[in-house]
Amino acid sequence: MAKILDGKTLSRKILDNLSEEIAKLDKKPHLTVILVGEDPASELYVGLKKKAAEKLCIKSTILKYPQDTDEKTILDKLEELNSDKDVNAILVQLPLPKQINEKKVIEAISPKKDVDGFTPENIGKISIGVEPYAYPCTPKGVLTLLDEYNIKLEGKHAVIVGRSNIVGKPLAQMLLNKNATVTICHSYTKNLADITKTADILISAVGKNKIIRKEMIKYNSVIVDVGTSKIDGKSAGDVDFENVFESTSYITPVPGGVGPMTIASLMENVLKLFKLA
Ligand code: GUN
Repeated sequence: MAKILDGKTLSRKILDNLSEEIAKLDKKPHLTVILVGEDPASELYVGLKKKAAEKLCIKSTILKYPQDTDEKTILDKLEELNSDKDVNAILVQLPLPKQINEKKVIEAISPKKDVDGFTPENIGKISIGVEPYAYPCTPKGVLTLLDEYNIKLEGKHAVIVGRSNIVGKPLAQMLLNKNATVTICHSYTKNLADITKTADILISAVGKNKIIRKEMIKYNSVIVDVGTSKIDGKSAGDVDFENVFESTSYITPVPGGVGPMTIASLMENVLKLFKLA
């Protein structure tokens, strides 16, 4: 019988614990977010991050820039934030407009303030199995959720669909560090279903509704849905949840699965970086 991996409840527990810990601090952590342009999804995510920070008494500053902002403006601001003693966590919301080189911007964030864990130093640490200053929030949230339900990773075949720098690639490294056997699939992968059917743990991070269907999964596997898309104004995942549900051992819902875990992980990272400073 399938069980729900309830990210909503676990994230609340994490946030409650963080709230108690932060309440005891004399000085509060400070998260600064850079948001460029008017992408509605990015505005929504940044709004959720700000709300979560406020609830925990984490100071948050959102720096909003117009769509046509040039790269130098952002790089100069990052230089300023890197040396600002009052700021301990920096997040540049992605994607950025096309005139701005995303990789250059990420490289310009001080690794000790890199709350997303996206800088080459943090990603490099993860890939050699060293603790980074911060782990990328969505992969960290996924692993925390699996751990809460005692889902063991050692020797399991974990298949990730999607190779983004935000989710797929760092998650693959983190699963390898936990001794899983990892396969990454992407848009050029041939015979996707043949691979997904061999997954003990299938993680989809594509953003296309119902690309993971019942005939693509192994019976009794664990399904983690990182995808978000909008169907009739409602958020929807990558997995055909209703038809897949009975064939799984554990499955995340959308919403209420990985999404809230990402926010909880971000708040954990803010506190971790604050303690480092
Ligand atoms: N865009 C989508 N997800 C993320 C994330 O986790 N961090 C940042 N900075 N941008 C994103």
